[in-house]
Amino acid sequence: MSISKERFHRLEFATKGDSRGQLIALEEDRQIPFTVRRVYYIFDTQPGVVRGLHAHYDLEQIIVCVKGSCTFKVFDGIHWQTETLNKPSEGLYVGRMIWREMHEFSSDCVLMVLASELFRDADYIRDLDTFKSIARTQREATP
Ligand code: TYD
Repeated sequence: MSISKERFHRLEFATKGDSRGQLIALEEDRQIPFTVRRVYYIFDTQPGVVRGLHAHYDLEQIIVCVKGSCTFKVFDGIHWQTETLNKPSEGLYVGRMIWREMHEFSSDCVLMVLASELFRDADYIRDLDTFKSIARTQREATP
């Protein structure tokens, strides 16, 4: 078993390449299944750093490694899954209530995140045991 595809999956984007180079377009309701309310990017990550280490109650994200590489470890409260991102033509959809950790950033890594909501600290769950407990409660409440 693994994390349900509805909540976490890999995306492949069409590349509009020609003799000049490459271009990828991401559009709402096509590649992006939500309205993008925020974009941020992570770069110049120092060696050995682990980022993320949280889940969101409500936020959905599409994450694209536009340069370099990094490794994602995600957890839905039951299953852990590891995915490497190293192509600008691929992304990860990360839905609600998925714990995420980013590891092994290459020194040139630029990680772009498209998010469905504005930044809101109250939407974060930053403690793994708290996340496990909330995820269990939500599972038990779902018929
Ligand atoms: P942080 O949540 O630690 O990043 P990550 O979990 O991806 O490793 O964010 C670092 C800082 O940036 C923290 O002070 C919160 C702030 N921040 C914003 O102001 N807006 C944003 O959209 C994000 C993601 C973070």
